[in-house]
Amino acid sequence: MSLGTHLKSSIGEKTLMAVTGVFLLLFVIGHMLGNLQVFVGPEYLNAYAAKLQSLGPLLWAIRLFLLGTMAAHIWAAARVVRRSVSARPVKYAMQKDLATNFAAKTMMVSGCLILVFVVYHILHFTSGNIDPIGAFAKAHISEDIDVYGMVIASFQHLPTTIIYSVAMVLLCMHISHGASSLVQTLGLLSCSEKCRDKIGPALAGFLLIGNLSIPLSIYFGCIS
Ligand code: HEM
Repeated sequence: MSLGTHLKSSIGEKTLMAVTGVFLLLFVIGHMLGNLQVFVGPEYLNAYAAKLQSLGPLLWAIRLFLLGTMAAHIWAAARVVRRSVSARPVKYAMQKDLATNFAAKTMMVSGCLILVFVVYHILHFTSGNIDPIGAFAKAHISEDIDVYGMVIASFQHLPTTIIYSVAMVLLCMHISHGASSLVQTLGLLSCSEKCRDKIGPALAGFLLIGNLSIPLSIYFGCIS
């Protein structure tokens, strides 16, 4: 079977979704650990951001890889959903969900909203097209970009803090089901179903606390 045919099979689509999910998860963990340097001090976060920028063509290669990974993840998810809808064109008269929960049932919705957030986030912190309080413009006055100043000023603005906090909750919901699911699809851990079902929520909780701590600590004045 060719790779193209395999990817369009039910197993192939699920495997592609799981493998791309692993890469996206690794990015989200790495990005959070980098951002948490905001708690250490401006010199650390700014030096980290400058180091990333200095990667030049490698940074662009990473960006393209991430973009391709996201596109493949969405493509595979759309095919899996389409397949399950066409497998059951007539709805059950009475639908009783046994082994599922809210996060699992809303994967498509949370995934689409996370995509909207990522576009907003890039227009906000990377390109500065969305700059409600002029924080991006101020941080880019000198050649040494003040990413720390930009992040602090941005989260002193209530609407921005609310948007990021809601997005982090949606991300947590998505990962809570997605991470457990990919462990099962890829057969990564030889543990019981009960243990596997706890991996996603645990990872999501860790990411929620780390990511939410940044906007909330800034908004409530713990970092200024
Ligand atoms: C509170 C949480 C977050 C904070 C404080 C944050 C902060 C930042 C900052 C400051 C930048 C710009 C870096 C620079 O200009 O050097 C950035 C870029 C980016 N962030 Fe976030 N981020 C957060 C959450 C997320 C999440 C959850 C995702 C993905 C789901 C994400 C995806 C990205 C992407 C794709 C970029 C563009 C990277 C590039 O190509 O330069 N971020 N983030």
